[in-house]
This record gives sequence, C-alpha cells and structure tokens, in this order.
Amino acid sequence: MKYTIAIDGPAGAGKSTIAKLLAKKLDILYLDTGAMYRAVGLKTIQEKIDIQDIVKIDAIIEDINIKVRYIDGKQHTFLDDVDVSQKIRTSEVSLAASNVAVIKSVRLKMVELQRSIAGDQSVVMDGRDIGTYVLPNAQFKFFITATAEERAKRRFLEMKENGEKNVDYDIILEDIKYRDKNDSNRSFAPLRKAEDAILVDTTELSVDEVLQKVLANMNA
Ligand code: CDP
Repeated sequence: MKYTIAIDGPAGAGKSTIAKLLAKKLDILYLDTGAMYRAVGLKTIQEKIDIQDIVKIDAIIEDINIKVRYIDGKQHTFLDDVDVSQKIRTSEVSLAASNVAVIKSVRLKMVELQRSIAGDQSVVMDGRDIGTYVLPNAQFKFFITATAEERAKRRFLEMKENGEKNVDYDIILEDIKYRDKNDSNRSFAPLRKAEDAILVDTTELSVDEVLQKVLANMNA
C-alpha cells in the first residue's frame, strides 16, 4: 500500500508531532518541509542578505545547496554540506524562514526539492502548502490547527522543557501571530486548507486523540 499524506496548518499546531508518529506507525518517510525554509532563512542570515533584496535572494536560491538525509530514521537538514538541524531551531531563524517563505523563487525551489526527495515512495509531508500545492493529489490531507493562544502555550512549554532560558509567552504569541499573517497573506501558495482536507482542531485534544482521529479518517 502506497501512502501520500499531506499535513498542513499554522505554526505550532502540532503537525510535526503527528506526522512523525504517523510515519513511524506506517513505516514511511517523513519530510519536514519547514526545515528546508529554515535552512534558506539561515543562509540569508549567514550571508547577511536583506530580506527585501529579492534580486539577491533570487540569485542565491538558484544554486542553494540544501540536502535532507535520514540518520537512524531521523531527518537531518544540511546547508552547504553542514548539518544545521539544531541551528535552524532558533527564533531568529524562525523569523527569517517566515520572511523568505513569502518569496516565489524560494517556494518554487523548495517544492522542486520536496517533490524530488519524496520521489514515488510513500511519504507524509508537513508544511503550509502541501495539500494545496506540493502534493495536490495526496491520498490523505489533513489541516491541523488550534487557537493562537493554545499554540503559543505549547511552544512555551516545549521551549521550557528544552531548557531554554528567558522564555516569554507574550513574545511567543506575538511571533506566532506574525508568522500566521505572513503565511496566510502571501500571494503565492498561501496557507490554506485544501478543499478536500480534513480539518482537525486540536485546541482541546491530546496528541494521542489527534493521532487516533487522523488514523480513523485513513481507516488505518
Ligand atoms: O514548526 P513551525 O510551525 O514553527 O515552523 P516550520 O514548520 O518549521 O516552518 C518554518 C517557516 O517556514 C514557517 O513559518 C512558514 O512560513 C514556512 N513554511 C512554508 O511557508 N511552507 C511550508 N511548506 C513549510 C514552512
């Protein structure tokens, strides 16, 4: 049985948690597409490129060297052959990723890479435009969401758990709202629920309840 599963939704809705669990359960590939936009964001920081300088971004994106490898079943993201999987998780990179993700040339390049990584094998991809643009013919599509406040709360707890200092709920909420606006308002491939995607509001649900809901919809 070949699976193609698209999971979309706003920042911090728990897409990656569900996608990872699904991939494990079904023994299929998981592709975190956000990590790739994060790698582009990191590149602009490293090269000190102004986010408004579309000409420069168009130029670097042409031959950007982003690779995804799986080590012990876990996705590792490489930029210029350096493993940046940890480095791309900072708030600075989150912001840069959100800003570069509105640029059309960036999206076209990432989508090309995403489709080539998936090839014709079974895959679960999570992102913003998977069901609407990257895999419009996906067999199963889910749109996972939650209120901005709940998503900020989850991110806050996750950061605390990871031992991060100076974690401020209000700043996280502001950041989430900013990224929601960027994602929903961009003209090219914005964040949108595909018409045929199943909406899962996770505000009041546990991870396990969300997983069960998704599996029930797949008859898996
Ligand atoms: O995990 P979180 O939801 O915070 O973000 P992410 O999935 O790692 O994605 C980082 C940024 O990349 C997001 O803020 C989106 O703007 C962008 N993105 C996108 O535009 N399209 C995708 N398919 C995936 C991510």
